[in-house]
Amino acid sequence: MQALRERFQKELSQVRSLRELQEIRARYLGRKGALTEALKGLKALPPEERRQQGRLLNELKASMEEALRQRQQALKEAELKEALTREALDITLPGHYGPPGRPHPVSTVLEEIVEVFLSMGFSVEEGPEVELDYYNFEALNIPRDHPARDMQDTFYVSDDVLLRTHTSPVQIRVMKQQRPPLRFIAPGKVYRCDADVSHTPMFHQVEGLMVAEDISFAHLKGTLEAFLHRLFGQDVPVRFRPSYFPFTEPSAEVDIGCIFCRGSGCRVCQGSGWIEILGAGMVHPRVFEMVGYEPERYSGFAFGMGVERIAMLRYQIEDIRLFFVNDARFLAQF
Ligand code: DAH
Repeated sequence: MQALRERFQKELSQVRSLRELQEIRARYLGRKGALTEALKGLKALPPEERRQQGRLLNELKASMEEALRQRQQALKEAELKEALTREALDITLPGHYGPPGRPHPVSTVLEEIVEVFLSMGFSVEEGPEVELDYYNFEALNIPRDHPARDMQDTFYVSDDVLLRTHTSPVQIRVMKQQRPPLRFIAPGKVYRCDADVSHTPMFHQVEGLMVAEDISFAHLKGTLEAFLHRLFGQDVPVRFRPSYFPFTEPSAEVDIGCIFCRGSGCRVCQGSGWIEILGAGMVHPRVFEMVGYEPERYSGFAFGMGVERIAMLRYQIEDIRLFFVNDARFLAQF
């Protein structure tokens, strides 16, 4: 028994892994283990001796189990410690930095436009991009058979539902909700079935509307001149040309002096010295009737502009499609 104990202790002290520990356990305490065999051998002894030997063997067995348990715990702790050291991350190492994002030029120009009108006391309104024919056309004095519908190539969802072709329907929605006086702009996305260097199927517009008693064309001119001077510089010339829109009467298109050639004529202004920048006019009495405003009592002006067009002029970009391919090299220039 003494020899068995000593052999066990010696072998245990040499164990280096949990697997070796399992082998020792099997060698002494397994079904054919040395200690198990010794316990089986008790049967051959006379009763008195058997009891005494049995007690000693069981004590030895218990001390072996305890030694194995302690050794196992020590080995496990050592393995954990080793794994933690091996897999340690150095959290003080510098991270990988991606190139920083920047505002899109269209967003920048849009924010600038909004800022100017906010400073003039306009609020900001929104409307849906999926719109009813009624708001996009009908209520803006563009009936179904009106030739003005050919001015815009519309994406239809169904007979009555479409992607708005301009932000003008927001005029109708707001007037139906609120009473005069009102003064707001409505920026947002619009859609037309069109694609070339100056057209994309989606682009941005900013609509404007001011309605009160005694609003005149002079208010329209003053407001838009102040706006264009803030956006393009105090000395840029502004001119109003007679035009036609079904929802305004009279209607005008607004030009600024070409910012590239300063009026002498170049490729961008096609030799005219002027660049068209806005559509505008006095709200048509029929539109007021549609929303339940009394045309004899109220008057107002409206305007609409394309944001990409202004961004193209501002940054001298010749192809509108560059805004939407999201080429990081293009976007990084702004
Ligand atoms: N909705 C017009 C368009 O998309 C732009 C426009 C013109 C808006 C005159 C107006 C306006 O509010 O008065 O071409």
